[in-house]
Amino acid sequence: MNEREIKIQFSSFGSESDLNTSSFQLFIEAKKALDTAYSPYSNFQVGAALRLSNGEIVRGSNQENAAYPSGLCAERTAVFYAGSQYPNETIEEIFVLARKTGALELVPACPCGGCRQVLLEYETKQNKPIPVSFKMEKVGFIRVSSVSDLLPFKFDASSL
Ligand code: THU
Repeated sequence: MNEREIKIQFSSFGSESDLNTSSFQLFIEAKKALDTAYSPYSNFQVGAALRLSNGEIVRGSNQENAAYPSGLCAERTAVFYAGSQYPNETIEEIFVLARKTGALELVPACPCGGCRQVLLEYETKQNKPIPVSFKMEKVGFIRVSSVSDLLPFKFDASSL
């Protein structure tokens, strides 16, 4: 038996004012997306904003359903919209934010496993890493430079 380890790198930013200009723009857009969340069951709002290679910014928010599993996360709403509306563009970066309904302050939240898997599909499809940013407890904001860093043991088309 061998004990092994995987190291991932990420950048941390104490506050949104430390983000670079393009990430800050996505931060603002993800915040706007929070207002469009439809989350009457969880009362948890999630907003995502991504930038495409043509400069277009696509926003998405979580859309819940009385049949709970039929709802969709913010990241997937944004990514699937981008994939269907702009099939030939690549995703350059995505920012994800969350807050409780009725509250103003953001809460830490990182993409769920299902969203990581979906983001990974697009990263593989475009053969170019997609940086992912989100809010993290104590640290402020975190940015990983690739979805693979969030899902090091991955299932993709190469497994099939
Ligand atoms: N949610 C997202 O939109 N993205 C995630 O990555 C995690 C969870 C949503 C799903 C559901 O509407 C609510 O947050 C509570 O789980």
